Amino acid sequence: MSVKTLVAYYTWSGNTEEIAERIHHQLPGSDLFQIQVAANVFSKDMYKTSDIARHQLVTQEFPKLLGELPYFKQYGAILIGTPIWDNRPATPVHSFLQQIGRPYEGKIAMFYTSTGQDDKAGAVFEDWCMKACPYCQCLMPYEDEEGLKYWF
Ligand SMILES: Cc1cc2nc3c(=O)[nH]c(=O)nc-3n(C[C@H](O)[C@H](O)[C@H](O)COP(=O)(O)O)c2cc1C
Repeated sequence: MSVKTLVAYYTWSGNTEEIAERIHHQLPGSDLFQIQVAANVFSKDMYKTSDIARHQLVTQEFPKLLGELPYFKQYGAILIGTPIWDNRPATPVHSFLQQIGRPYEGKIAMFYTSTGQDDKAGAVFEDWCMKACPYCQCLMPYEDEEGLKYWF
């Protein structure tokens, strides 16, 4: 891939970070960015975190992101890594897509880690992506770096 790529990821317990770092190392010249929210947004307890995320989805009040965001227009492709929560991408990914927003016209693809209950995650990501970034190309997700290699 000749375009400059951003590998962005959200992680709650480290698995997605590991994959994101491996993808970053396989894409020379790519940038790596961690999507972060304040420590008190979610719980250390998985079930409470799931409830908080579900509440955010119902109220459509998604978490604010910490830190300075990258300048998205410099990237031809943005890969977004996420854990799967409740068969969906984690809610900070929704916030991130909103920040990328309408001006972005490149490619966006998701990669994710899960425990296997993820059959709806791709469709949810596509929906979030197309609504937040209507002029970009939202590509189908792959679960791991092997799949992403195929995509490239
Ligand atoms: C709040 C919460 C909800 C989860 N819901 C799902 C789910 O619906 N389906 C699934 O396959 N895995 C689910 N998982 C498991 C995570 O997707 C999986 O462990 C993932 O690799 C965690 O990534 P991370 O370490 O980057 O946070 C859930 C985990 C958490 C913490």
